[in-house]
Amino acid sequence: MNNNKITIAIDGYSSTGKSTVAKQLAKHLGYIYVDSGAMYRAVTYYAMIHGFIDEHQFNKEALISNLQSIEISFKFNSDLGFAEVYLNGENVEKQIRTLEVSGFVSKVATLPEVRSQLVKQQQKMGKDKGVVMDGRDIGTVVFPDAELKLFMSASAETRAKRRYKELIDRGDDVRYEDVLRNVEERDYMDTNRAESPLLKAPDAINFDNSNMTRDKQFEAILKLVDKVIDK
Ligand code: DC
Repeated sequence: MNNNKITIAIDGYSSTGKSTVAKQLAKHLGYIYVDSGAMYRAVTYYAMIHGFIDEHQFNKEALISNLQSIEISFKFNSDLGFAEVYLNGENVEKQIRTLEVSGFVSKVATLPEVRSQLVKQQQKMGKDKGVVMDGRDIGTVVFPDAELKLFMSASAETRAKRRYKELIDRGDDVRYEDVLRNVEERDYMDTNRAESPLLKAPDAINFDNSNMTRDKQFEAILKLVDKVIDK
C-alpha cells in the first residue's frame, strides 16, 4: 500500500552529521526529510523573541501557556534541496542556528509539554512512511516501529570542529572553545534529562563516524537501507 516505503529514524549526539546523512538519504529515496531539532530550535527562538528565556531567566509557564500560538512548518527550497523551517509563517532557518539558540534549546527541550506537542506533529508528518527524521528520540519515542534506526556518534572534539567550521563559514564570529563547551553541555543535558533522554534504541545500528568520510558512511548506510527495503 505504501509502495514499500519505510520510516528511517536517525538519532544521536549533536553535530554527528545526522542531518547530512538524513538529507542524502531522503534525496536518494525520494522521501521527506524532517529535522526535528529545527522544531525544538524554532520553539526556543520563539521563547527568546518573546522574552521568555535569556541568560538570567526561563519563564517556563509563559512558554507553556503560549504553545498553542506556535506554528511550525517546513517548506521545500528547491535551490537548497531541503525543507526550511518556518515559525508562524516566517522563514527562521538562519535565526535558529545561532550559538545563542544552541545555548538555550536543551532547556526548552526538557519541557514535557513542548515535547508532546512536537512529537504529535512529527508523528503526523511521518504517518504515510517515506520519511527520514533525525533527532534524539526518533527511534525510541516518535517512531518506535521504524524499519531502520541509526544511532550516530563521534568524539566531542570532532563534532565541535565540524560545528565551528559551519558557523565560521556562514560568517558567525565564534570561538572554538565556546563551541566545544556548548557541544559538551548539550550532550550532558540531552542524555541526562528526565523526559525522553537521548538513548540508543536497542534495535538501532551504531555509527561512530569520527574517522569515517561522509561518502564511506553514506555507502554503508545505503547498504542497510537496501537490505530493509528488499525484505
Ligand atoms: O539536532 P539539533 O542539534 O539541531 O537539536 C537541537 C536540540 O534540540 C538538541 O540539543 C536537543 C533537542 N532535540 C530533542 O530534544 N529531541 C529531538 N528529537 C531533536 C532535538
